[in-house]
Amino acid sequence: MTDLNPQAKQMADESMVRGLDAQARAIWPQEVELIRRYAIPADARILDAGCGTGEGSSRLAELFPRAHVAGIDIVDHHLDLARSRYASLAARLTFEHQSIFELHIPDRSFDLTVCRHVLHSIPHPDRVLGELARVTRPGGYLHLIPEDYGMLHFQNGSLDPRDFWHVGPAAFGSKTGTDLFIGRNVYGILAAMKMNEIAVNYVVVDTVRVPRETFAAILEAWRDGYAEPIGEHTPISRESAVAYFDQMIANIRDPHGYAVWMVPVVSARVPSDRSA
Ligand SMILES: C[S@@+](CC[C@H](N)C(=O)[O-])C[C@H]1O[C@@H](n2cnc3c(N)ncnc32)[C@H](O)[C@@H]1O
Repeated sequence: MTDLNPQAKQMADESMVRGLDAQARAIWPQEVELIRRYAIPADARILDAGCGTGEGSSRLAELFPRAHVAGIDIVDHHLDLARSRYASLAARLTFEHQSIFELHIPDRSFDLTVCRHVLHSIPHPDRVLGELARVTRPGGYLHLIPEDYGMLHFQNGSLDPRDFWHVGPAAFGSKTGTDLFIGRNVYGILAAMKMNEIAVNYVVVDTVRVPRETFAAILEAWRDGYAEPIGEHTPISRESAVAYFDQMIANIRDPHGYAVWMVPVVSARVPSDRSA
C-alpha cells in the first residue's frame, strides 16, 4: 500500500517549523495580492488544508477580519503550536486533526479552500484535489501552492546546483511516490476536473524581492530537514546534499549573488452548476 505521508518525519521536525515561518515571510507579501482577487463574502468560510503551524491560516484570518478559517493537519504538534500562537483569533480560527484524503466535512462548505506547500509531498494529489473541490461551494475558489523543484535557480560555484536539482527531486519523488514537479502538473488535473477560471501565477522568491536572510533561512531549514532523506532516497549522499545546500545558502547571502525560487500559485473556481 502506498504510504500516504512519506514525509511524515520531515513534516514534524523542528526544521519544518522554522522553514514554514521563513517561507510565509518570503511568500505572503506577494501571495496576498493574488488572494485579494477572489470575490468572497466578508464573512467567508475558509479552509486551510494541511495548515501546518498555521502560518497561512492566521494570515487569512487577519486579512478577512469577519471570516471563519478552519485549519486542518495530521501533525498534532503543529496544531497545538498553531492554537497557542493564534489564541487571540480563536473565535474565528480553529485547528483540527483531519486528513486531506478524507475530510469529515460536508460538501460545499467553504467559499475559499487553500492548500499551501502540501501537494508535492503526498501521493495521489488528484484524489486530494477532488476532496478539496468537494468541500468548496459551487462558485467558490481553490488557492493552491503546488511546489515544483524544477523552478529553483542558483549560480554555479565549485558545485553546479543544476545537477542537484536535476537528479535529487526526480529520484526522491519516484522513491516516495510523490510528484516534486506538481507545480506544472496541477493545471491539467484541474482542467480534467472541469474547474473554471484556472489561473497560474508566480510568487518570485529571489534575492532582489525577498531579504537575503529570509531566503537563506528557507534553504537552511531544507538542508537541516532533508539532507538525510536525500542521502537515503537519491544518488546524492547526505554529505554531498549538505555541501550543495551550503553553497546555495552562500550564493543567497553573497551581496552580489542572485538566486530565485519560482513558486507557482494556482487558482480555480468550482463550476456554479457542479452537482454535489
Ligand atoms: C510543508 S507543510 C505546509 C504547511 C502550511 N500549509 C504552510 O503553508 O505553512 C505541509 C503540511 O501538510 C501536512 N500534511 C501532510 N499530509 C497530510 C494529510 N494527509 N492531511 C492533512 N495534512 C497533511 C503536514 O503535516 C504539514 O504540516
